[in-house]
Amino acid sequence: MRGSVPERASANAGLDGVVAGRSALTWVGGETSDLVYRGYDVRALVPGVPYESVVHLLLFGEPPESDPSPVVAGALRGARPVAAGVRAAADALAPSLPPLEAMRTHLSLLGGGDWSYPPRREEGYRLIAQSPVLLARHFRRATGRPPVEARDDLGHVANYLWMLTGEAPAPARVEALEAYFDLLADHGMNASTFVLRIVISTHSDLGSAATAALATLKGPLHGGAPSRVLEMLREIGTPDRAEGWIHERLARGELLYGFGHRAYKSEDPRGLSLHAIARSVADPSRLRLAETVEREGLAALRAAHPGARIYANVEFYSAVVLDAIGLPPELFTPTFALARTAGWTAHALEQAAENRLIRPDVEYTGPPKGLRWPRAKPGP
Ligand code: ACO
Repeated sequence: MRGSVPERASANAGLDGVVAGRSALTWVGGETSDLVYRGYDVRALVPGVPYESVVHLLLFGEPPESDPSPVVAGALRGARPVAAGVRAAADALAPSLPPLEAMRTHLSLLGGGDWSYPPRREEGYRLIAQSPVLLARHFRRATGRPPVEARDDLGHVANYLWMLTGEAPAPARVEALEAYFDLLADHGMNASTFVLRIVISTHSDLGSAATAALATLKGPLHGGAPSRVLEMLREIGTPDRAEGWIHERLARGELLYGFGHRAYKSEDPRGLSLHAIARSVADPSRLRLAETVEREGLAALRAAHPGARIYANVEFYSAVVLDAIGLPPELFTPTFALARTAGWTAHALEQAAENRLIRPDVEYTGPPKGLRWPRAKPGP
């Protein structure tokens, strides 16, 4: 005992290495550069496997009979029309609102009223299908253009590009973005999924849980990094400036975005795949700059933190690929969230199937019981 406060086990503030649940969805092999969805090595799925089929794998536990999954493709097509009330509420948002902030409101609107506990797969389809519709609509308003209706002849990812631009997307761009969606669809107990599972564990609904999950992606330590990576690359400008720029930044005690990961103490497998994709879609001079910054960044971070096992994370080549596809930086994190709606749905269903309220403890570090309120009247 310390004073009258019972001693508790000492806290692990970042929950590093704490196993906070069970899941049959995704294995993150941080020591071996592995990412596996339900037994399938994700790197073997890209490029080529349509996002609808990855959604199928995550939601049903096995691959579909054919690609793209007819079940999921049909369900997403059917779930795409947004209710008039939701559309009107979304259109009432200021067009100047950054897309990520708009998306946070969109997700909360989606759960409007009739979503409840336990979450249903149909609600997941609506989350996955309607999020890009609303995001693209907001983006078009923000850039002074009318909305573009989805096309039934396009897949989920191609439709997203179509709704953003109003132009038939080039197959190479669709293939690159589809691979990005596949690679980012789920990732174990990352911050957004942990938050989502906590919310579901209270018997709340999927719309509320996804809104809370999205909030974590604004932070640059989780999903907010890719636009900052692009900013960094643009500031550096040319490969010869990389070393000096990085040293100055680290000397100021600032983070180098796109490097380091809590789970991966080896190469981030998503980063390896995205680097390969960047080689086929990115402008060669931009790719050369990124590769130089990666090399110099790793050298500087490893010198500053010997033994820390730092590698480039998924956000580094995500930024290069999303930029090459033509997405503006303000859409990078919302696009990450669109991909992750599949994983969020699968985790919500899994959490509800074996639910136990997630409610950890905290190590109390305040004064022990016994202080007297300065103006308290003497008790009876
Ligand atoms: N820039 C500068 N220093 C770094 C970086 C970085 N990118 N990454 C790690 N470090 C430092 C840490 O601050 C720590 O220093 P300390 O020992 O003096 O406290 C040391 O290296 C060891 O770090 P780790 O313990 O291995 O990293 P941790 O697990 O705490 O953090 C994190 C992981 C938050 C992702 C960190 O690497 C980081 O801030 N990276 C930059 C932001 C970023 O790219 N985020 C996207 C992550 S990917 C995703 O979430 C989808």
